[in-house]
Amino acid sequence: MVDESRVHSARRYNYWLGGKDNYAVDRESGDQIAAVFPTIRTTVVENRGFLRRAVTHLATEAGIRQFLDIGTGLPTADNTHEVAQRIAPDSRVVYVDNDPMVLVHARALLTSTPEGRTAYLEADLRDPQKILADPALREVLDLGQPVALMLIAVLHFIESTEEAKRIVGVLLDALPSGSYLVLSNGTSDFADDETRARFAGLASRGRLDAYPRTAAEVSSFAEGLEALEPGLVVVSDWRAGDEPEPRPAPAEVAVYGIVARKP
Ligand SMILES: C[S@@+](CC[C@H](N)C(=O)[O-])C[C@H]1O[C@@H](n2cnc3c(N)ncnc32)[C@H](O)[C@@H]1O
Repeated sequence: MVDESRVHSARRYNYWLGGKDNYAVDRESGDQIAAVFPTIRTTVVENRGFLRRAVTHLATEAGIRQFLDIGTGLPTADNTHEVAQRIAPDSRVVYVDNDPMVLVHARALLTSTPEGRTAYLEADLRDPQKILADPALREVLDLGQPVALMLIAVLHFIESTEEAKRIVGVLLDALPSGSYLVLSNGTSDFADDETRARFAGLASRGRLDAYPRTAAEVSSFAEGLEALEPGLVVVSDWRAGDEPEPRPAPAEVAVYGIVARKP
């Protein structure tokens, strides 16, 4: 059921991206965060740019044809299957989100090319075994072939880094060698004292539902994998050579990204 009285991160993200699929409660939360962190719209646009560049690279250079995109968000411009299928029409994408609002809009994620396939599962990242065992996932993805596991701006909703690591481990264990992890996670590594104090204020009033991580913590999710160049960087700097200059400062973006290959 869609609960209009509770903040949903998918709807709040949609608000920051300029979308219309959000309610007053999401806009209020979005504005509170924007008051503390005025460049949040730069953050979300840059995070989407990272998704687009990472999928483009994997489809073009790495020959990846299967994507498992968990924490999909509300459909917007350049969803994973659109980016991948523009390059390789036979790409297969399984989307997963736990927000009923995303399910309501999932039709827009199911506009696959005839050569490819897409599917949408309503499921929770906290139960990775259930996601992996879902017959709809098995119908679309062949787990004997490489898969790009996409965890973009979703792991920071899981408070415990140990628990998040366990989840990433379970998912990666199910994928063969040659698979990839594409991950982004918020950070306060670049924040000044004033911004930190304002975030702490929001958190103490129960108004913050995302947990920033340090570079070391985010890197630990890719332990045992081979990070592609340039390694762990702010998302706006990941292979952004063709993006308009000047690039935003790391403190304005405050999200780390990494793409890494399972050996
Ligand atoms: C900030 S949005 C990111 C959307 C998209 N990945 C992107 O980067 O543009 C986070 C999404 O993760 C979803 N999400 C949060 N916690 C989740 C969980 N435990 N299981 C599945 N999805 C979750 C939210 O509903 C939301 O749609």
